[in-house]
Amino acid sequence: MKLINADDAREMARRRLPRIFFDYIDGGSFDEATLRANRADFGRWQLVQKVLVNPEKRDLSTSFLGERHPLPFMLGPVGFLGLYAGKGEREAARAAHAAGLPLCLSSFSIASLAELRRETTGSLHFQLYILKDRSLCEELLLEAEKAGVHTLFLTVDTAITSVREKDLRNGFRSLTKVSPALLLQMLMRPSWFADIMRAGAPQVGAVAHRPEFGKGVLEQVSNLSRSIDQTLSWRDVAWLRQRWRGRLVVKGILSTNDALRAKQEGADAVVISNHGGRQLDCATSTISVLPEIAGAVGDGLEILIDGGFRRGSDVVKALALGADGVLLGRAYAFGLAAAGSSGVSAMIEAIATEIDITLALMGIASVDELKSLGTSVLRPA
Ligand SMILES: Cc1cc2nc3c(=O)[nH]c(=O)nc-3n(C[C@H](O)[C@H](O)[C@H](O)COP(=O)(O)O)c2cc1C
Repeated sequence: MKLINADDAREMARRRLPRIFFDYIDGGSFDEATLRANRADFGRWQLVQKVLVNPEKRDLSTSFLGERHPLPFMLGPVGFLGLYAGKGEREAARAAHAAGLPLCLSSFSIASLAELRRETTGSLHFQLYILKDRSLCEELLLEAEKAGVHTLFLTVDTAITSVREKDLRNGFRSLTKVSPALLLQMLMRPSWFADIMRAGAPQVGAVAHRPEFGKGVLEQVSNLSRSIDQTLSWRDVAWLRQRWRGRLVVKGILSTNDALRAKQEGADAVVISNHGGRQLDCATSTISVLPEIAGAVGDGLEILIDGGFRRGSDVVKALALGADGVLLGRAYAFGLAAAGSSGVSAMIEAIATEIDITLALMGIASVDELKSLGTSVLRPA
């Protein structure tokens, strides 16, 4: 099967992964209403075609997070990449860096930041959850500094973990050991199994050296999930702002008030995000709140967005509606599960090509021109 678009990657990942991991990536919370809205609401806008002005070549480069990037998107934090493909974090980073894009490593990863830094030289950002044990947060921040990370993403929408019913059924996060049913699932996916085993028995990198989190990966996942601090508040953002000298991005914002508060607390950027429809079910889609937030925050706070981005036209709409840049989530995670690093590259290339063709057909020469044209290139559907 050829990986032409993100749906292909999803289908190939479904065939390749044990169900417990496919469902973990694919699922959303409760009725999955927000998960669906993230995709469906791109349909609220149509693109304006403009003919006979096509420049020979489009320039897709643009600036976000204080740097120039060859494409207007990056790979966002997705937990446990190393369970979807052997050395999954390294494979995703390789593909990102080959395209000149940053990868934001989740603090819930199989590879630790230090390990990943040894294996790659491109741009790495780091995503932090505030854990009850602040000494572990401190350790992670020090590790980030040592690894030359300049940009830290603080995820603020998961202090309380929502219910993803597929995970509940499959036992993801509650299983602490491989059950006979899970073993059977894994053995029925021999090429995935061999790939993972070649990379060595997986551990959660951030806590592998801490015996209190348990030995096996399932036990570590379960304990780490429970260790997120449910009392997370703006005070913690202020603490982190004082503690972290680099760029600070607050991820998980869905309202103008919260975006303005993040700016007031010294954040450099926010990610408009509902965690891919995995947290507050029935929350708004991210694309639908983007215009309001982008219109209100003014200078001094960059606006990034994620949630449901699968097509180049989704990215074009977000940039026209005021986003500085986009984060990919499942689109690349499925690419990774489908075909490792080359699957991630296929997704980056597919979305980049779609952006290029979309701009050409809209008579727009560059991503920067698109940003300056803004909503004039959109029509309400
Ligand atoms: C399997 C999976 C794991 C995720 N893990 C994290 C994580 O560890 N940290 C984080 O900030 N966001 C995490 N997210 C949320 C993503 O960063 C992003 O907000 C979301 O995937 C965007 O939606 P999309 O997947 O529809 O593009 C995860 C998402 C998925 C699908």
